[in-house]
Amino acid sequence: MVKKIKLFDPVIDTSEKKAILQILKSGFWASGAGVGNVLKFENKFKKYIKSDECVAVNSGTAALNLALSLFDIKNKEVILPSLSFVSTAHCIIENKGIPVFVDVEPETLCIDPKKIISAVTKKTRIILPVHFGGMPCNLNEIQKIAKKYNLDIVEDAAHSAGSMYHNNKIGTHGQAVCFSFHPVKNLGMPTGGLISINSSKYKKFKKLLMERRWCGITNRKGSNYDVKEMGWNYYMNEFSAAIGIEQLKKLDNSNSIRKRIGKKFNEKINVEIKMPYNEDCSYHLYWILVKNREKFREKLSENGIETGTHYKPIHLMSMYKKNQRLPITEKVGKQIVTLPIHPNLSKKDIDKIIRLVNKFI
Ligand SMILES: Cc1ncc(COP(=O)(O)O)c(C=O)c1O
Repeated sequence: MVKKIKLFDPVIDTSEKKAILQILKSGFWASGAGVGNVLKFENKFKKYIKSDECVAVNSGTAALNLALSLFDIKNKEVILPSLSFVSTAHCIIENKGIPVFVDVEPETLCIDPKKIISAVTKKTRIILPVHFGGMPCNLNEIQKIAKKYNLDIVEDAAHSAGSMYHNNKIGTHGQAVCFSFHPVKNLGMPTGGLISINSSKYKKFKKLLMERRWCGITNRKGSNYDVKEMGWNYYMNEFSAAIGIEQLKKLDNSNSIRKRIGKKFNEKINVEIKMPYNEDCSYHLYWILVKNREKFREKLSENGIETGTHYKPIHLMSMYKKNQRLPITEKVGKQIVTLPIHPNLSKKDIDKIIRLVNKFI
């Protein structure tokens, strides 16, 4: 039987197992108010990325929903790429805003700043870039546009735990930056997410986020508490936080292995259009474009190599469908293949992926 090379494979050892057992035994599994391991994880992640504040939640989707709830986007437009996971757009609808999809840059598959400018209208309120595959977007240009048109930036950093931009970690640039700790991510948990806040203008955000992640509960003193506004059950659980603390210790090492593989793929894979090499990227994904995609994937699968197709463009989903053309996104949506790039790959696995990709292309 051919050995299977998985597309994603979390890096774990006995430390995660020990952490889980401790929580199990403690009987203290949930922490709505954010105490115990959740608070510990928030502080450690904040120190790691060097941001102003961090609030942990139970998914990247929850992080996006809550982050957007901080800005009044009702009937306002939010500019985002269509090449992303659907929750990048759902969070706008959840907050009664209007998603405005723009195309991506062909080299990085990150949102194209030039296309953002042409999409800005009087109704625009937020720019929501996605650091695709961990590749940092052109935040300098995006910040210039935001400043010019008085917009806020909420980043989708679901792929970017540990990515850098201009010597600072992703998570320190936008007003609110949303991470996902879904099990396949570079920092994985059973389920989890986090919002990093960086804005002296929005000091009140942390308190609001902490209330809204736990059903809007405020003024909690013993059994006496109040609810003044809407909130959700979005808090992170203790198991996730305890695993997150262990995963964070491994993140830099895992990311440097991913980078090494990304560099090798970039040098050795003979495909015309492929993910570039960038020292600042966390390489959550490694992508190539392939014309005869399904046949190509089938061949790799027969040889034990699992691949992905991140993503079907959101503007082509029935829920979002309009008469809009985004040529680069649509081409990518048809041709993208993502390859295994996790730190558990052996040298033999990596060489096999390169050899077979080059053979079947
Ligand atoms: C780009 C992007 N945004 C948002 C999300 C949502 O994160 P989660 O699955 O943790 O809700 C994901 C996760 O898959 C993602 O890849």
